[in-house]
Amino acid sequence: MQRVSLSVLQPGMTVAANVRGADGRLLVRNGTMLNETNIKKLALLGIGSIYIKNPLFEAIDVPELVGENTRIRLIQALQAAFAGYQKTGELDANPLRTDVKAMVEEVIGNRDAMIQTYDLRTYQDYVYAHSVNVAIIAVLIALNLDYNEAKLDDLALGALLHDVGMLAVPNEIIMKMGNLTPEEAAAVQEHAQQGFEIVRKRREISTPAAHVAFQHHERFDGTGYPRRLKGDAIHEYARIVAVADIFDALIADRPYRKGLLPHEAYEIIMTLADRYVDKSILDLFLNNVAIYPVGTVVQLSGGQTAVVAQVYPKLQARPVVKTILDPAGKLVKNGPEIDLSQQLTTFVTKVYNERELFSLDAFSDSLTG
Ligand SMILES: [Fe+2]
Repeated sequence: MQRVSLSVLQPGMTVAANVRGADGRLLVRNGTMLNETNIKKLALLGIGSIYIKNPLFEAIDVPELVGENTRIRLIQALQAAFAGYQKTGELDANPLRTDVKAMVEEVIGNRDAMIQTYDLRTYQDYVYAHSVNVAIIAVLIALNLDYNEAKLDDLALGALLHDVGMLAVPNEIIMKMGNLTPEEAAAVQEHAQQGFEIVRKRREISTPAAHVAFQHHERFDGTGYPRRLKGDAIHEYARIVAVADIFDALIADRPYRKGLLPHEAYEIIMTLADRYVDKSILDLFLNNVAIYPVGTVVQLSGGQTAVVAQVYPKLQARPVVKTILDPAGKLVKNGPEIDLSQQLTTFVTKVYNERELFSLDAFSDSLTG
């Protein structure tokens, strides 16, 4: 199966996994053949991308760091906690702890699955989905710092709540499309201090975890906010979350721009080492993120088009790929696998974005034919 965004869906494509809303409700069942009506319905409900059947991707098995159900439960729990805060003025994070623990255990169990970043862009409801992604990435980084499970749970809860202070920022500023005035920008920056005030009162949130909300916009070189902390004066939790926060923001689709492809985000975030983020922590992250996630379609230096079938840690730039189109653009059934870590004279010359991919006739014909 292949994960595709809504904009390239066509009637006649077949859904390859149940599609659920952010509230967990089943929207479209696995096996449904799409028509104009259910494509419109998905768009109205704000679904960003879904899995479709693709014979070219039959042998492609996308490893998941965290399963769909765990992710959705965590999103729901976070929504409930934020809604509770808005009603009562108190953030009760206790109900989140079970779901945080379940997520941490899954990441530990799947730690060999590198972050398959295409998997992260699922939901429209950005704040919740983003917060959950940040928590997942933070745990993956911290595993490489040999945190024990209690410390991972602690970090994960802090990471999940890093932007809780946004609840105190006026909605019309958050929703504003154009540039912010200096006053509005200052109001947004307030979310760090505000978030800290919300979480520091809570006994279920440790002091270091509370400091994630306070410090996640500090920069390693001392140019961040709110206190211009520098280097190790920024708590390690917050240095981890800063990396996770920036990377997920780069690859996320937003109403005003398309997210970057993983290899693009990889290049951008590398330039921030020791300026915005701690290089030693960034390196731990970069060693565990797939530059070309499984399912990415690439062009090779021999002219053929191939799909990434497997990625090995530390060899992220040299995945195993499977040929799907020959150099003339004709479909190749059961194309050969090429291990780029062995075949050193073959290179990835291009990464297809979805629009380019679906404009290849042979490719889109194979989906609805
Ligand atoms: Fe933030």
